[in-house]
Amino acid sequence: MPFGKTVFLGAILAMGRMSEAKQVINNVWYCNEVTKMQYTNVGCSGTFKTPSIMSDNSGTCSVDYAEQSYDGPLAPLNEQITFHLRGPLKLYNFAAYYIDNTPDDEEEETPEGYQKREEAPHKHRRFDHHHHHKRKLNVKTEVVEEVVTLTQYVDAPAPTTSSTSKVAKVVAPSAVVANAYKAHGKSKKPKKPADGDVWKRAGFYDSGKQILEGVTFLNNKGGQGSGKWTSCFGNSLSHMSADGKDGSATPQILADDTLFGVNEEFSIWTNQTCDGTCGYAYGDDVCYRGWDGDNKVFVFKFTMPPAHTDDSNIYGNSNMPAIWSLNSLIGRTQQYPADKNWSCWDSGCGEFDIWEVLYPQAPACEYMTSTLHSAQGNPGTGKGGGGTCDYFKRPTDTTFTGMVSYLSDGTITIQKLDDSFDFPEYITTDIIKKGFSSDMPTFKVAS
Ligand SMILES: *[C@@H]1O[C@H](CO)[C@@H](O)[C@H](O)[C@H]1NC(C)=O
Ligand SMILES: *[C@@H]1O[C@H](CO)[C@@H](O)[C@H](O)[C@H]1NC(C)=O
Repeated sequence: MPFGKTVFLGAILAMGRMSEAKQVINNVWYCNEVTKMQYTNVGCSGTFKTPSIMSDNSGTCSVDYAEQSYDGPLAPLNEQITFHLRGPLKLYNFAAYYIDNTPDDEEEETPEGYQKREEAPHKHRRFDHHHHHKRKLNVKTEVVEEVVTLTQYVDAPAPTTSSTSKVAKVVAPSAVVANAYKAHGKSKKPKKPADGDVWKRAGFYDSGKQILEGVTFLNNKGGQGSGKWTSCFGNSLSHMSADGKDGSATPQILADDTLFGVNEEFSIWTNQTCDGTCGYAYGDDVCYRGWDGDNKVFVFKFTMPPAHTDDSNIYGNSNMPAIWSLNSLIGRTQQYPADKNWSCWDSGCGEFDIWEVLYPQAPACEYMTSTLHSAQGNPGTGKGGGGTCDYFKRPTDTTFTGMVSYLSDGTITIQKLDDSFDFPEYITTDIIKKGFSSDMPTFKVAS
């Protein structure tokens, strides 16, 4: 993210770990190389401001805003999030896991030692299937009704001619979300994962086998086959071509062994179209749901080979690969807005950087850092949160398999896994928490 570096500095200083810092490079403090780390106390409540209409009438740009409230563990990252990846990078695998204790059809594989649960209600399964099949038929009418009823004006503004004073609370109409994440969304009292819980792979990409399930790859090339370009706001999201270079009219499977170069980016979404459930999307026809929910776990296998363009420009992203997560509203409006109000980032809708290189030259180019950007501790802004000075070693000539778990106890944990992790269809909470230990490096986010 464009604001990453200055924010990072403030966060580290606030942490009081300066004495532990082994190196300070471009104002960023680096402490110890680790293979796992945990953020605790993640989540706050508040509101953020997000564009609700972005229009370009022959060069006259106008934007309306909606104010959206959030709360709960992980908030606002308990909302839909999306993953963003920047080269130099190759992605080999991606998987998303959600708690699903309902056994699936008999022919599907189950993990070692996992006994199918007899008590699982068959009615529930039929309901799911029914809903799934009906979706295409019902969606249109449902959307029309839901949009009208769910846009509530909480601050009921006096009628006005100004186009920017509207304050609306937009709630995702869960009834329309006939998808795999329906049962795993947010709730007032989120359930904490139990040790015996089984997690099902809800999204999967395998580059070598060219498998893509439940996932859509997008990039910011709107106007090339899908999405759009306007002179006010530039490119929207687009479907990504298989070689990762261009936009595409339709979703494509990212080709095997694709190398994203310096500053080349793409993003990972679900394959569920929004159908009116996601709030405003500037890209119109390119509108997918992000990864929603109070409990969600993701695994990436990647490499970040060195590639230098202009290392003297330390903000030019030369040799600075990254994988990070954003509130999905950011991608659907403007990831790199010319006016900072044109996305909800600045008012705190949330970002979590998972593995981010912040400097192009050695040794810092070998360090993958993490940071939470939210309003936590700095209400109303995107400049709260904070990050640890510990870092992961960047994989330049090897692969790195890493898991990031967003759990309803308000923790986000990043772990390097053994490269033998084979992205099974089911995992258990035990596998997710196997590496957790009381002495693991921890960063408690200030309230
Ligand atoms: C999404 O992906 C899943 C898994 O591959 C598939 O079963 C489902 O039909 C897809 N849904 C849509 C809307 O493409
Ligand atoms: C962004 O919004 C804030 C308040 O909502 C306003 O004060 C500020 O002028 C806006 N910035 C720009 C560049 O329009």
